[in-house]
Formats: sequence, C-alpha cells, structure tokens
Amino acid sequence: MSPTMQLCGVFISVILAVTAPRAIIADCPEADPERHQEGNLHHDLLSCGYNPDYRPVKDHNTPVTVKIRFALKYISFDSLEETVTLHSWVAMSWKDEYLKWTPSDYGGIKEIQVESHEIWTPRMALFNADASLYQSDSIYTTCLVTEEGTVTCVPQMAHSGICRTYLRSWPFDVQNCSLYFGSWMHKGEQINFTFYKTKPVIVDDYQDGPGWKLINTAHERLPGAYGCCPNSTYPMLKYTFTLKREAAGPAAIVVVPSVVIVLITLISLLLDIKDCTRLLLLCFSLYGHFMFLTEIGFDIPKHSSDTPIILLFVRDSMIINLAAILVTLLLMSFRRKVVAAPVWIASFNRLLQSGPARYVVFTEFDPSETTEVKVLTEDNTNEEKTNVNADWIHLANFLNSCVFIIAIIAYFVLVCTYIPRDDY
Ligand SMILES: *[C@@H]1O[C@H](CO)[C@@H](O)[C@H](O)[C@H]1NC(C)=O
Ligand SMILES: *[C@@H]1O[C@H](CO)[C@@H](O)[C@H](O)[C@H]1NC(C)=O
Ligand SMILES: *[C@@H]1O[C@H](CO)[C@@H](O)[C@H](O)[C@H]1NC(C)=O
Repeated sequence: MSPTMQLCGVFISVILAVTAPRAIIADCPEADPERHQEGNLHHDLLSCGYNPDYRPVKDHNTPVTVKIRFALKYISFDSLEETVTLHSWVAMSWKDEYLKWTPSDYGGIKEIQVESHEIWTPRMALFNADASLYQSDSIYTTCLVTEEGTVTCVPQMAHSGICRTYLRSWPFDVQNCSLYFGSWMHKGEQINFTFYKTKPVIVDDYQDGPGWKLINTAHERLPGAYGCCPNSTYPMLKYTFTLKREAAGPAAIVVVPSVVIVLITLISLLLDIKDCTRLLLLCFSLYGHFMFLTEIGFDIPKHSSDTPIILLFVRDSMIINLAAILVTLLLMSFRRKVVAAPVWIASFNRLLQSGPARYVVFTEFDPSETTEVKVLTEDNTNEEKTNVNADWIHLANFLNSCVFIIAIIAYFVLVCTYIPRDDY
C-alpha cells in the first residue's frame, strides 16, 4: 500500500468519523464538564437512546411489575348519578432496566428526580370509569429513581367510577363501591399490576365526603385468567369502599315522624267514636302519610331498582289509616241506628258477653249519647230504645276492639319488616 493510499484511508476515516456519526451525536452531545454531577447523570441516563414509549425491559418476555398503593384523601359519592369519585395519592413503583448507574461514577449520587414525561410510566386504567368525564390514564408528576433503577411516582389522581346504588334500607343504607384498575392494552405478562406488600391502602389522611362515611376498604387482585387464552392473564386490582350514608338528617325528617304518625293512628283507635277527635286525628294522620310519601319521594333516586322499605312502610300504613277512617265512619253510623238490631246480632252479643271474649272488648263507650237518642225519639218507650241501641253499641265495641287488635298486629308486622335499622 502506497503512502498516498494510506493518507487517503486516514483522510476517509477522518471524514467518516466526523460526518457519519454526527447525526446521532447531535441528539446526544458530550457531557458538559461545567455541569454538576447530577446534570451529567441525568444526561447520561435520559439523553442518549432512552425511549419513554416502550416498556423498560431488555428482554421483551420480562414483565414489568408495577406496585400500587392508594393513599385515600377524599371520596365523594353521588347516589343520584350513581358515581363515586376517589381522590388519592397513588404510589406506583417499578423497575426500569435502563435507569441504572454506579453511584461512584457520579460523586456518590444514589437517587435523582426526573419528570414523568421523560421516562416510561405505566398507564393504569379504571375499567368501570364514568365515561362521561375524560380521565387520562397517564401521569404527570416528578418521580424518584434510585441507582438500581427503581422508579417511584406518587401522582395525585382523581378517579370517577360507576357504582350501583342500593336503597332498600334508606336512609340507613350502606353502599359498596368497587373500582377496577388494570392495564388497558397490556397483558399481565407485559405489565403486572400488584399491590404493595405493606399497607396497600392508606386511610390515615382520609376525609369523608359530603353525606357519606367511609367504614371499610377492601382490596383484591383478580388474576384474570380466562379459558380462551391459557398463556395470557389480564389481572385487575379491585378496590371496594364501603360507604355509609350519614343518616341523622333523613332519619329525623322521615323515620321518626313516620313512627309518630303510626302512634297517632293507633291511639285514635282507642278514642270514643262519639266525639270527632278520633276522626280528626285519623284525618291528620292520613295527611301526614301524604306528606312523608312526598318527602321521601323527593329525596330518593327515582330510577333505583329497589324501593326503600320505608316507602313501603308509609304506603301500607296509609292503607291501614284509610281503613281505620272507614271503620270509624261505619261505627259512627252504628251508634246512631234507631232500628232494632237483627236477632242474630243480639244473640251474638249475648254469646260475647258470656264467653271469655268479653275481656277482649275493652272500649267502654260513654252511654250519654244513648240517653240523647232516647230523648229525641220520645214516641218509643225509653226502655225499648236503650235495648235497641245497646245491641248496636255492643257490636260497635266489639268491632272496634277487633280493628284495634288487627291494626296492632299489622303494624307489628310492618315495623318488623319495613322499618330500616341502623346496622353499623
Ligand atoms: C359490602 O361488601 C362487604 C364485604 O365485601 C360485604 O360483607 C357486605 O355485605 C357488602 N354490603 C352490601 C350492602 O352489599
Ligand atoms: C404478577 O404478580 C403476581 C403477584 O404479585 C404473581 O402471582 C404473578 O405470577 C405475576 N404475574 C406474572 C405474569 O409475572
Ligand atoms: C401456550 O404455551 C404453550 C407452551 O409454551 C404452547 O404449547 C401453547 O401452544 C400456547 N398456547 C397458546 C394458545 O398460545
């Protein structure tokens, strides 16, 4: 080889060295000696060849295990819209195989902070999201990277999910709301979401949302293995929050007054049918029932599949109340009867007064009105009139006692089945 050719070769290689790699070097300038060690480390980790778009593993068969911890801050639940919104700090931690360094090369730096958009971050999707709101599954925060490549990000996030409301025991209802998190497009063999081993859910700084109290949290990892795909799993993290309605207000407005109205109905059945107080009280009680039906109907979601039992209670109680009014009117008409009672009524009364049933008939009506009737109908002999009316009054007494006992039994059954109880 001639020296000219050698020179040529050197020249060409110099040209190549200067031009060809320049395209790459332009994106990755040399470390600036003026920069401090942290800047150099940041530069060496992220400027040259790091791509935040791909999973940070060297072998594509390796899963990235992402550990999740929720520190709950606030939960608001809308029972009308059936949505639950969870505000929390979500700690996420995983291993990035491209973010490793030797601390001695960089003045002993063991951890650095990087912006989440500069590195790969997992996208954690909420599966039962309230789709009417746009919810991004990527995070924007500053993350901490340690020398072994462990990345930890703690973004503040709000997740809105759909939660079916069950109102059977309104206003003492307890709602279970579950939120399901996982990767939307990656399999469990690519991104494996798991819980932190210690304290996967922290409620130390939790504050209750309006009207609802958090009484329990539960978490579960659903392995997501399906028969269709034996080599793939689709794991999900399920968080269940048990919320209890703060019921003091609705209970004061509806439950206790309903019981009062029931007592008014029962007590009025004990009153003498002669004066109008009984009818007045019963009508007032009927009006109260309408009031509470309106009030409860105003408070509860109309589309719920299950009806609050307090609503059924007030409805049935209203029917009893109406029956009591009708019976009262009937008994009043008995009292005013001037025709002689049929023979069977008289013999029925005699049977009643001689048998043990007479202890059941406890309402003793004031006979004063009987006297009035006597005076009014002077053409009959007084003695005869008293007997005529007494039969009707005895029958009325008996029927009234029966109605009272039936009402007591009916209310007992209604209270046992339909009055919601505060179980927690
Ligand atoms: C809510 O979930 C808990 C535990 O999973 C269960 O014990 C409870 O019965 C559930 N409550 C309702 C109202 O579904
Ligand atoms: C994901 O993690 C869970 C528990 O943390 C483990 O049981 C499971 O085998 C892992 N899945 C894969 C594909 O590595
Ligand atoms: C699952 O993996 C096994 C072994 O690696 C393989 O024989 C089988 O064909 C795979 N099944 C599917 C559905 O890919």
